[in-house]
Amino acid sequence: MPANPLDSFLAWYEEAKCGSPIDPDIVALATATPEGRPSVRMVLFRGLREGGFSFFTNYQSRKGLELAENPFAAIVFYWAHLGGRFASKARSNVCRLGLPTHILGNGRF
Ligand SMILES: Cc1cc2nc3c(=O)[nH]c(=O)nc-3n(C[C@H](O)[C@H](O)[C@H](O)COP(=O)(O)O)c2cc1C
Repeated sequence: MPANPLDSFLAWYEEAKCGSPIDPDIVALATATPEGRPSVRMVLFRGLREGGFSFFTNYQSRKGLELAENPFAAIVFYWAHLGGRFASKARSNVCRLGLPTHILGNGRF
């Protein structure tokens, strides 16, 4: 098992893309209000950028508004055909890259 969590992720991810019955890029993304009220939804993983997990969304969505006020988030991939999941908790950086918006975990695991 690689020492770096991102290397572990990449090894699993490459494997997950082979023979997955569903899109392996679908992840659960949890965010929370500043008071700690959680919410979770599915989003599409759009690759690793600057050492973090990226996805696209709208700043005015609930997740966008929550991340603007509370940057702590968590994601979970579930790759049933590999019998496993990969989870990451990160402080997100919200980066404006035009529309749609891009929210990036900064890789603190
Ligand atoms: C398979 C799947 C993939 C999705 N991917 C995204 C995505 O990449 N970005 C996004 O903003 N919403 C995506 N959605 C919709 C979200 O799950 C969610 O319904 C929507 O973004 C509103 O969430 P919010 O109100 O909690 O912010 C996806 C939904 C499904 C079922």
